[in-house]
Amino acid sequence: MYTQSFSVPDDTGQKIKAVAAIEPPELMAKFDARIDADGRIEPQDWMPEAYRKTLVRQISQHAHSEIVGMLPEGNWISRAPSLKRKAILIAKVQDEGGHGQYLYSAAETLGVSRADLLDALHSGKAKYSSIFNYPTLNWADVGTIGWLVDGAAIMNQVPLCRCSYGPYSRAMIRVCKEESFHQRQGYEALLVMMRGTDEQKAMVQDSVNRWWWKCLAMFGPPDADSPHSAQGMRWGIKRVSNDDLRQKFIDATVPQAKVLGITLPDPDLKWNEERGHYDYGQIDWDEFWTTVNGNGPCNKERLSTRVKAHNDGQWVRDAALAHARKQQQRAMKEAA
Ligand code: 3HC
Repeated sequence: MYTQSFSVPDDTGQKIKAVAAIEPPELMAKFDARIDADGRIEPQDWMPEAYRKTLVRQISQHAHSEIVGMLPEGNWISRAPSLKRKAILIAKVQDEGGHGQYLYSAAETLGVSRADLLDALHSGKAKYSSIFNYPTLNWADVGTIGWLVDGAAIMNQVPLCRCSYGPYSRAMIRVCKEESFHQRQGYEALLVMMRGTDEQKAMVQDSVNRWWWKCLAMFGPPDADSPHSAQGMRWGIKRVSNDDLRQKFIDATVPQAKVLGITLPDPDLKWNEERGHYDYGQIDWDEFWTTVNGNGPCNKERLSTRVKAHNDGQWVRDAALAHARKQQQRAMKEAA
């Protein structure tokens, strides 16, 4: 019995189809039935190869986004305007590192190694979120990233708490709780600046002007141009489409912008009574794909910083392994 679970259009599509074609029909039927009943798939359960590969792709891209996402803001830790802001920012950046760890661990339950996933990131083969390839030019960018980037991330990630793959959905519950704090601290930092001097207000407006459209693109290509959406939704990995999430984000953010007292940089942004949503202007998809394909303003800088951090941390990984080996030897000696 062949079901729609068999077709995953991606760059390894041919290979996946070949593997999928030999999936045992009775296992496939059981898997489909569990998905249809909104059940969870756990690492020890049988799953079609195409489902496994789709999860590895999405979870690893997500993990990479978290750790590369530490860089644009990490850049401001030493220049934070007060001890309070510095402490908040350090905590936030550490949280993002932690999210990467949960997500790499979730990916490892699918039989891939963290070292291979990191190699793919460092060699430029693996994708990570487009948003982290733009520069943080002023202090307001830290607030705007919290408000808009983390706000967009939450909108995308709350539905992932109901993802059909157990380890991913559970990791997302904790991630979302922390992202919610990130979003609030960003908004609060901007509110304080908007009560400040004209220069501070102008800094916030400049920052929002630069980040708004990039955040809308973060949700991914329009549904009609999204090769993975249909299958991801069928499998309960994705619960809400790229366009629907984008719209929800816009509808939620416009009133927040009004409270802040800033203008969102889109002359076409207006409430549509009939649709019950805000209409908005055209996203520059050419610019999005240029960035996703490695040629955005900061892609090269982000990757080289990440590779350097990884290489500089080699001694820590070596020391941790040596310590673990010593402990194991000691435990074995005591047991003997
Ligand atoms: N940046 C880079 N690549 C993107 C992208 C973006 N904003 N949006 C889509 N793409 C890529 C996809 O990964 C896919 O590439 P591939 O075929 O080489 O794997 C291609 O564009 C086509 O997109 P699809 O819509 O068909 O792909 P998906 O169905 O996988 O949907 C997604 C894309 C919505 C990003 C989905 O994968 C997803 O929900 N991922 C989990 C969440 C995530 O990764 N978020 C990233 C931000 S995390 C973050 O911001 C950290 C926080 O601390 C702020």
